[in-house]
Amino acid sequence: MNMRPLGASGIQASVVGLGAWAIGGWTWGGDDEAESIRAIHAFLDAGGNLLDTAPIYGFGHSEEVVGKAIADRRDKVVLATKCTMRWDLTEQQKKRAHLMFTSTNSLASWSRELDQSESFDVFIYSGRDGIRQEVEQSLKRLRTDVIDLYQTHWQYDSTSIEERMGALLELKKEGKIRAIGVSNATPQEIDEYRRFGQVDSDQELYSMLDRKFETSNLPKCAADHIAFLAYSPLALGLLTGKVTPDRTYPEGDQRRYNDRFKPDNVRKVLAMLDLMRPIADKHHISLTQLTMAWTLAQPGCTHVLCGSRNAQQSIDNAGAGSVTLSAQERSTITQAIATCTCA
Ligand SMILES: NC(=O)c1ccc[n+]([C@@H]2O[C@H](COP(=O)([O-])OP(=O)(O)OC[C@H]3O[C@@H](n4cnc5c(N)ncnc54)[C@H](OP(=O)(O)O)[C@@H]3O)[C@@H](O)[C@H]2O)c1
Repeated sequence: MNMRPLGASGIQASVVGLGAWAIGGWTWGGDDEAESIRAIHAFLDAGGNLLDTAPIYGFGHSEEVVGKAIADRRDKVVLATKCTMRWDLTEQQKKRAHLMFTSTNSLASWSRELDQSESFDVFIYSGRDGIRQEVEQSLKRLRTDVIDLYQTHWQYDSTSIEERMGALLELKKEGKIRAIGVSNATPQEIDEYRRFGQVDSDQELYSMLDRKFETSNLPKCAADHIAFLAYSPLALGLLTGKVTPDRTYPEGDQRRYNDRFKPDNVRKVLAMLDLMRPIADKHHISLTQLTMAWTLAQPGCTHVLCGSRNAQQSIDNAGAGSVTLSAQERSTITQAIATCTCA
């Protein structure tokens, strides 16, 4: 497994990271805790060390499962989590917060912790008091005394970046976090954070099907030595080549409502992947590994965060971290992506 630095933090993280959103169950139609723990262990055993989670993934559940899985091997893990997505604010904090969505939205309706009969709201809040509260909750759920990479999840609320960064720098000084990252941030917001201190990573949506950051955050991160962590690099599983047009999804799985997973679009994606299959076959790798290897070879993209729901997926995904494609192979793949008319 290749390693790359997380910005200027001095931390070396595996180029393939395990994303623990699906492990939280929420918006993925539920989870199987024992299977999730096996997935995390298999990923670490296969040479990966970067684990990415967030409090909102299952309203604390993903962090708890990750905490349980790594309790006896904390030293093998670069542990990343996030702050600012809140479902538990006080009325006073809500006045400064941005309402992101409400549970009447069917995608938000799966939660183990919250009463399903009650409607609840999810806010973005990055006030100093909120960040300090959140870090204590995450440390407890993750069963650790330090978070390696702490990222602001979304940037929508009106708290000044000076206040947000001030809170993060305090936590770093106190030894509760080791590096600071942002997510879903514009280059201008990243610059504003950097006025007050060091930003080591930026986490954004990036895959063969989602390439808009190639002209903004990717070159920015490359120029400023900030790690770029691609999220949803498999387009929620679609780019593994294992999603068939007739696959159905349970209630509460976001893919049930996502146009990308409609049969016609899935056929187009499979046709695109078929054009790449000879390259995968030549390297004796899966289409999933080929997808990730191409993504990791794009300028500025230092790491990919792949969701994994079982040990087999973890082993497959970790295997992508040592694949090298030639310039000709990368170009053939890029052409195949360009000719695809899929959503
Ligand atoms: N910062 C943010 O706002 C943000 C937003 C989204 C995601 N993220 C991060 O990025 C991570 C990854 O993104 P993601 O979970 O959205 O999607 P993803 O990595 O694009 O896709 C993950 C899904 O693909 C399937 N899969 C994964 N590996 C596979 C394999 N080897 N073979 C077959 N199927 C496989 C699994 O679903 P099935 O088995 O059910 O098919 C898995 O849940 C998240 O877990 C999270 O850490 C961050």
